[in-house]
Amino acid sequence: MAVIADRCPEIKVTLVDKDATKIDLWNSSDLSKLPIYEPGLKEVVERNRGINLYFSKDLKKSIEDADMIFISVNTPTKISGLGAGYASDLKWVESSARLVAKYAKGHTIVVEKSTVPVRTAELIQEILSNADNKKNIFEEKNFSVISSPEFLAEGTAIKDLENPDRVLIGGDDQLAVKLLKEIYLRWIPTDKILLTNIWSSELSKLIANAFLAQRVSSINSISSLCESTGADIKEVVLAIGYDKRIGRKFLSPGPGFGGSCFKKDILNLVYLCRFYKLEDVADYWEQVLILNEKHKERISSLIIDKFFGTVSNKKIIILGFAFKSNTNDTRESPAIKITKNLIENGAQLLINDPKVSRKQILEELEMEEFEIDNLSSGSWQFASDIEMASKEADAIVILTEWDEYKKINWESVSENMRKPSWIFDTRNILKEERLKKLNINYWQVGS
Ligand code: UDX
Repeated sequence: MAVIADRCPEIKVTLVDKDATKIDLWNSSDLSKLPIYEPGLKEVVERNRGINLYFSKDLKKSIEDADMIFISVNTPTKISGLGAGYASDLKWVESSARLVAKYAKGHTIVVEKSTVPVRTAELIQEILSNADNKKNIFEEKNFSVISSPEFLAEGTAIKDLENPDRVLIGGDDQLAVKLLKEIYLRWIPTDKILLTNIWSSELSKLIANAFLAQRVSSINSISSLCESTGADIKEVVLAIGYDKRIGRKFLSPGPGFGGSCFKKDILNLVYLCRFYKLEDVADYWEQVLILNEKHKERISSLIIDKFFGTVSNKKIIILGFAFKSNTNDTRESPAIKITKNLIENGAQLLINDPKVSRKQILEELEMEEFEIDNLSSGSWQFASDIEMASKEADAIVILTEWDEYKKINWESVSENMRKPSWIFDTRNILKEERLKKLNINYWQVGS
């Protein structure tokens, strides 16, 4: 929405949320307090806030005034009830639609921006068509529902929005589709704006994420095979990536995929397939998730194995807690499972991340932070100074590919460590030639 405001000065964009604290943070004069860290976002907000970009707590007035409303709420996996553990919870979509039905005036275009199961537009339409209409024709409200899923990735969101691979708009109401297309046409070429029917649009978002996640699980599965056979994943990626049909992107092995989308969307896809009695299709996609979970376990087990079966009382530095670099998002981060496994096995962790706060780590691990010295059980502590943390450490595990970590003085850090010591580079960010020169054992995924 901030990018729309940036590209369309004559359009007034208002963001509303029931969470007043969030709106206060978005309005904060200190731009470092914005609730999301995303490269370039601060600058876009700074350029437009108060001019044509507003953050408001007044849901009623904002909805009344709007010609077009983007429903952009989260759709987490249901934790109870029918479809628990698989289906998406649409309660926030539903309550947003109810608010729109209640407060909207005149004709309003409702754009489904949240990632939703196919046919959710039907639910929104149903709620809106039951809106309490006044008898007076001039006050009558009516709606057009269209779908336009968002394909941005975290960490590159602004770049993705300014120069997207495509924009997708699905819907039957040609006028509504045209109006939304005209917004994007201000900065996106027409051939990148795809128009489809509403169900294809909803489904395409789930499928794009499923294909991307499948690619990561595929390459992670091959990383284990490389380690067993003496092949090197970097060389295999290069060899297969040269094939234009396969392509080079999204083939980096790692500690497993995380983030708020991949797991949720595949679970949702599996649920949909089972709903339509497509068991084989459901099993096929579920395997992408099963592999991802096993891959994370493989990483923690491997670390324990390298220490001859016990990490009890070992001091281990964890570099990176975000699910990928350039974001402070920790949702479904592989770091959660890997660090929990190590703590359960008695390790004493020193966790560093340039953007993730200790509070966030505490919430994810559901475990208080402790001074690690003299503890007999597993524990964790936040470490802002990596060099200091490395004193007498037994291992360093790189879990997020932050650029900062490439620039560490590895020579001095490895000297500080208690021998025999290990570096586990799950993101393959360190050059092997450099690692070889250190007086240290190292492991890189797929090598
Ligand atoms: C994803 C989709 O890319 C985006 O189009 C969609 O709108 C939302 O979901 P995001 O979750 O922000 O975006 O991150 P993405 O870059 O796709 O990475 C997801 C996970 O896969 C991360 O944990 C990342 O580290 C991992 N990954 C990605 C790899 O392990 N290897 C790769 O080659 C690429």
